[in-house]
Amino acid sequence: MSERNTVPRRSITVVGAGYVGLVSAVGLARLGHRIELVETDRARLLQLRSGRVPFSEPGVQEALTTALSAGNLTILDQLSSSTAQIVLVCVGTPIDDQGHADVSAVETVLAELGRMATRPIVVIRSTTPVGTCQRLLRDDHVVDESRFFTVPEFLAQGSALADFAAPHRVVIGRSRSADLDAEAALVELFGAFDAPVCLVTLEEAELIKNGANAFLALKISFANELAGLAERSGAEIGPVLDAIGLDPRIGSSYMRPSFGFGGSCLPKELQTIATSGLERGLSMHVAAAATQANLAHQRMFAERIDEIVGGVAGRRIALLGLAFKANTDDIRSSPAIELARWLIGHDAIVVGYDPAAGSRAARAVAGLVACDTAIDALAGAEACVIATEWPEFKDLDWSHVRGLLASPIVVDGRRLLDPGEMRDLGYRYERVGSPPSVAVGREPTVLGSQV
Ligand code: UDX
Repeated sequence: MSERNTVPRRSITVVGAGYVGLVSAVGLARLGHRIELVETDRARLLQLRSGRVPFSEPGVQEALTTALSAGNLTILDQLSSSTAQIVLVCVGTPIDDQGHADVSAVETVLAELGRMATRPIVVIRSTTPVGTCQRLLRDDHVVDESRFFTVPEFLAQGSALADFAAPHRVVIGRSRSADLDAEAALVELFGAFDAPVCLVTLEEAELIKNGANAFLALKISFANELAGLAERSGAEIGPVLDAIGLDPRIGSSYMRPSFGFGGSCLPKELQTIATSGLERGLSMHVAAAATQANLAHQRMFAERIDEIVGGVAGRRIALLGLAFKANTDDIRSSPAIELARWLIGHDAIVVGYDPAAGSRAARAVAGLVACDTAIDALAGAEACVIATEWPEFKDLDWSHVRGLLASPIVVDGRRLLDPGEMRDLGYRYERVGSPPSVAVGREPTVLGSQV
């Protein structure tokens, strides 16, 4: 871990025990701070009070258990009993179909803070569209502008605790009249991580968060667009993207082809950017196009499956993976879930398996049968689709699986499996970014490179 441990112990209240709130709470507790975690959702509160993390995220359960038994984390059901010097607001800010964020949960917290006798430093950690923090200050008049900050969180699900402990940068947004002591306290608190600290305005901090996520989304969209072109050009996208990424101006991260990106942030952030621009009379052409491209990539993959199996209607299709990516049970804007809906809408019989998200997916998608094991899902299926890149799918005994499938067809939406091995086992193996049933030739070589 790269935190420096010389920071004074602070008393900190974290409002909201979602991914950002709970990870911030246990991450700061690990640094020795005294944390009060406020959760108002009754079911979630009860789970936390019994020491259980309400979602699947590597390392968080252990960190919560440690913090609770060390006595430096307390769980509260209301903010009014908080006595902290610093309050981190980590409540949800969902967006609607038009890309408008609902920040009413943030407003509720600010109103409560305004009624309290204490004057803590208030830090917005929830993602807000550019301009929201200034508007909250202007319209609500309840919090002291000089003690109001935003410090966006950049953690990714599946590696949230590690990302919290080793951020690429710490962004602190403050108002023009920021209290210098409050600012110094935050620089000290978040400066404990071995990362550059960017002190900026409230609007700049929001735009950094919106822009960083939207840019990651653009990169994936472009990689997926190029993957589609490769499929139709007799080219393999793997060596193409490896070589493009060798240019340090471009880099190779967020260039892993898929059949679309999902999750609670990337799709939302593209829409937020597009809507924020339109509200200011500016067309955000690139962000809007990336959203359209992402939807198109998901649809094209579904249509490719339809073509490969000769029409999905009446066919039993096994989906391996339902979460929006591996190592999480989150299905928000999951391309796998959208695919399940499309297939069911086209009269396929869809059986799915996910190591963490199965029951959640079955509740969300009418007609989806969620199995307890991959083998149960695969038995009798007329095609298998790899929809989420869980490493355990790579380790399946694919020779055994071949005998279970009604037809040995695998369509890989994540480029997880080895084409040569799959074809040697007698599969018809198709994947995103590869031409249809490409003959397996010599692996491309890049001399002097690790690619
Ligand atoms: C993202 C940002 O990474 C994080 O910094 C921010 O704080 C929250 O939003 P997250 O939504 O957890 O994190 O997931 P991320 O790992 O970024 O993946 C988002 C989606 O893109 C997933 O569906 C993933 O499968 C997909 N993806 C990612 C690709 O298809 N290809 C890639 O190369 C990378």
